[in-house]
Amino acid sequence: MTEDRDDKASKQGSKPRSRSRRGVVQRRSKRDDGKPGGGKESPSKAKPPSGKSSTRGDKSFRASSTKVRKESTKLPKDGRKPTVTYIRELKGKRPIVALTAYDAPMAKLVSDAGVDFLLVGDSVGTTQLGFETTVPVTLDAMVHHTAAVRRGNPECLLVADLPFGEASLSLDRLLESCRRLMQEGGADAVKLEGGRDIADDVERLVATGIPVLGHVGLLPQTVKAIGGYRKFANNREEAEEIFTDAMALEEAGCFAIVAEMVQDKVAAELAKHLGPPLIGIGSGAGCDGQILVTPDLLNLTPSPPPSFVKPYADLAREASKALGRFVEDVHSGRYPGK
Ligand code: KIV
Repeated sequence: MTEDRDDKASKQGSKPRSRSRRGVVQRRSKRDDGKPGGGKESPSKAKPPSGKSSTRGDKSFRASSTKVRKESTKLPKDGRKPTVTYIRELKGKRPIVALTAYDAPMAKLVSDAGVDFLLVGDSVGTTQLGFETTVPVTLDAMVHHTAAVRRGNPECLLVADLPFGEASLSLDRLLESCRRLMQEGGADAVKLEGGRDIADDVERLVATGIPVLGHVGLLPQTVKAIGGYRKFANNREEAEEIFTDAMALEEAGCFAIVAEMVQDKVAAELAKHLGPPLIGIGSGAGCDGQILVTPDLLNLTPSPPPSFVKPYADLAREASKALGRFVEDVHSGRYPGK
């Protein structure tokens, strides 16, 4: 996420989005009736939906890859646990904090800073790979970056983003994509963008033993369909849709849900209603925790960060000064010296 989404959206005149205008093929869920403040249900008990065979028998989900990673047995020393139960149980105790990382050195820095979980976001596309959106990011790229982050030995939960399109083809394909992120990449959990439309699939993933982080509000993977980045839930209809989506994800068994660019009051209300923690990004202080794109808060992005990001360092400036000094030193003979 490298642009000021409010500004970009207003420039492009993007319209309120409805879930039926997703840019990808969608299968609708039966859960369409949630309303703000009403009918809260307890999360799924992680059973395969009745009438469907267990996904454990799915041919495509057999641990057949020769590139499967060895599991790490390392445990953090500071009380943090790399488990989804730990994250879920932080709700109501203290704010949860998460950041993104895309390679081994950044994984170590972010983990050592004390985050509760680390996300290998598909924002790798805009922050590291030179793309304008996250849409071109492939599963191979996500597996590659997730494995690099795992090699950095982070002492916290490692969540990997499922990239564009992977949730829209078939359940077998979705299971295979998650298998690769976990077995080849070493992720502990996956994040999927979407609400009601993916809730049945999320339920199947959770039943298979794949912990899922939900993502509602602005879904950057739909940027081509919605016409730009903007704030969500500025009207009652959109607020109700976001509540319905988040509650469907809770029911499906998500261990936590990201709320991106959701109007602050709506996000605060939603956090109160949800069982799992609501982790905000550009959604105000009323969420159960905060996540940011690490290069945004270090000023290491190709374009200005979104307006809700507080700059904690200007590493682009520092790096540029240091690199300039090196060039001067070589030109002048000060480096390597005599
Ligand atoms: O890709 C990403 O970094 C994300 C965060 C914005 C939550 O999805």
